Amino acid sequence: MDLPDKLPTHVSIIMDGNGRWAREHGRERTFGHAEGIESVRAITEACSEWGIKYLSLFAFSEENWARPQEEVDTLMKLMFKSIAAEYETMMRNNVRFVVLGNRARLSATLNEAIDTLMGQTSANTGLTLIVFMSYSGKWDIQQAAGRMAAEGGDDLEPYLITAGYPDPDLVIRTSGEKRISNYLLWQAAYSEFIFTDTLWPDFRKDSFRDALWEYASRDRRYGKVK
Ligand code: IPE
Ligand code: IPE
Ligand code: MG
Repeated sequence: MDLPDKLPTHVSIIMDGNGRWAREHGRERTFGHAEGIESVRAITEACSEWGIKYLSLFAFSEENWARPQEEVDTLMKLMFKSIAAEYETMMRNNVRFVVLGNRARLSATLNEAIDTLMGQTSANTGLTLIVFMSYSGKWDIQQAAGRMAAEGGDDLEPYLITAGYPDPDLVIRTSGEKRISNYLLWQAAYSEFIFTDTLWPDFRKDSFRDALWEYASRDRRYGKVK
């Protein structure tokens, strides 16, 4: 696949449109979430193959807890199942797996599985795959401010849950929505944004490559004159 020379270090994706994809196919929303996992697989593989160092995925927001209990349960189950299923592929592809968010809200069983996979893959040096679970940007800033105040610090950055990881160069949102939905409010201060109408379950390698070409054509100025 033909790729631009200038690739982003960190690509972040707001994976949206699973429900609409399912409806378009005359199926239940759950079916869309399951198909969305296939896109996660394809995009993770593409990042490994193309040498992108960080891929982060918005998988479940703090606000998503307010969805019908049945859907929340399905999403948690899918997360649990994927963790168990992806171990070998991650080791083979040298992927480091990380979950960030308000983990206190996740079940003990899910947290245990997450900790196990994070531990098993922590020494991997290829792609870092960050999955945001029970995350919201306002929550992140709030918790960081609280901890900073308690310690008498004056720089917020090291208290954010993303401390130690680079800010996203590129944020992609699928499904035609053009909003940030309380995602990386601080960290996306200078990210490039790409909004595509493609629904997440249809977003595969070709769509991703197109987005990378679009990113390569952008001129990042960071407020300066070039
Ligand atoms: C994204 O798809 C998955 C999550 C937010 C967990 P949606 O479930 O939001 O799908 P739409 O937006 O209803 O189509
Ligand atoms: C954003 O999608 C959250 C995730 C992709 C995890 P939503 O579907 O929850 O966002 P809104 O409600 O359309 O803003
Ligand atoms: Mg949505």
